[in-house]
Amino acid sequence: MEPNDALVLARAQFGLNIAFHILFPSITIALGWLLVYFRLRYARTGDAAWLASYRLWTKIFALSFAMGVVSGIVMSFQFGTNWPGFMRAVGNIAGPLLAYEVLTAFFLEATFLGVMLFGMSRVPAWVHIGATLLVAGGTTLSAFWILALNSGCTRPPATSWSTVR
Ligand code: HEM
Repeated sequence: MEPNDALVLARAQFGLNIAFHILFPSITIALGWLLVYFRLRYARTGDAAWLASYRLWTKIFALSFAMGVVSGIVMSFQFGTNWPGFMRAVGNIAGPLLAYEVLTAFFLEATFLGVMLFGMSRVPAWVHIGATLLVAGGTTLSAFWILALNSGCTRPPATSWSTVR
């Protein structure tokens, strides 16, 4: 195999992975806030239609979230396996930002998604509404950290990245 083949394959693998990954955050970032709206409308009106919408779309949110997590984790591994030279150069920025994303956003979402899914009859309404808000905020925070990471590490460098493969 030519060295260039490996580069093309690595790019193709990462490109396919990120194209798949972005489908799920695109759903969850907006849906999280829509679920806050549905939950608040149900709390205000007591109308069972808002509850039914909330329940249905929470399941779709959970599925998209799970797909986003599994495809995202593969990409952070690919940073190391496909682009070790690049990571040697930007690791001091990329590493902490990825860690902040997992420690703040992911932990928040994963914890309170459980309350959203299974807690409605177990916790007071205000806690359940709070959990829905925290999950929506966590998803948006996740996007914030990743966009900070991607913009910080991909801005035009002093020397070309192609020299640090
Ligand atoms: C190099 C690019 C990316 C990497 C390495 C990456 C990494 C990850 C990882 C490791 C996860 C699972 C852990 C967690 O939820 O924190 C994840 C999930 C997530 N990522 Fe990415 N990501 C990338 C691109 C993006 C982009 C461009 C966005 C949106 C602007 C985004 C938004 C999210 C969201 C919202 C989640 C939570 C799961 C979900 O809601 O589907 N990611 N990502």
